[in-house]
Amino acid sequence: MNKIAFISQSGNVMKSSLASAMAVECAINGLDVAVADLDKEHRTISQWLAARIENEINPTFHVYCVNSAKDALNCFSDESLAIIDAPSRATSATALIAKNVDLVVLPTPPSKKDIDLSLGTLYQLINDGVPMNRLVLVLTRVGTAAELNQAIDYIGMANFGDRSPHVLSSVIWERVGYRGAINDSYSITETSFQTLNDSAKAVIHQLLSKLLR
Ligand SMILES: Nc1ncnc2c1ncn2[C@@H]1O[C@H](COP(=O)(O)OP(=O)(O)OP(=O)(O)O)[C@@H](O)[C@H]1O
Ligand SMILES: [Mg+2]
Repeated sequence: MNKIAFISQSGNVMKSSLASAMAVECAINGLDVAVADLDKEHRTISQWLAARIENEINPTFHVYCVNSAKDALNCFSDESLAIIDAPSRATSATALIAKNVDLVVLPTPPSKKDIDLSLGTLYQLINDGVPMNRLVLVLTRVGTAAELNQAIDYIGMANFGDRSPHVLSSVIWERVGYRGAINDSYSITETSFQTLNDSAKAVIHQLLSKLLR
């Protein structure tokens, strides 16, 4: 079983949107996939999936509602892909999850504040012994190409010794179409706009190839 986790300090960075889109893409391709929803306060994925089932949108997938990092790691049965959607700011839960999954994704909007928080989490996880090659930043909610370049430059200035954190080359743009899709129980790969779906799929596929290689 391969395990992937979406984590962040900041809220609203697209952890749940990416986790649910990955589950949808995998289910479409016949992979046995399930999600652990560790967001006790919001249950974003559980509620989104319940609405999706109500609206008869396919495919669906199994979601385990869990209350601790330990349960998030142990709830899966024999699925081939396990996706963990973590809540924001859960520092100690995040560390335990990160140490026990194959890939940790840090979705990061391009503001300095959000990047600093993600870099801080990266430093912490590396100090805790998580190998750098299991950590990946994904830039999300990016406004313009200029903003993207500034963010990449800013991340590039971070000092991690002789290695740099891996930043996915595909990014997710800030677009009303993504919000609309999520509101209507679709994933960010199922919007009404082909270009938005293609960008979201590019991110999901890059993450999967990093995870499954
Ligand atoms: N690329 C985007 N463009 C426009 N709106 C977006 C985008 N991504 C997310 N949103 C909006 O932000 C909301 C929050 O996204 P999401 O729930 O995936 O974030 P999260 O990191 O899981 O948040 P939380 O910290 O609450 O768990 C979405 O429901 C949607 O309305
Ligand atoms: Mg969430």
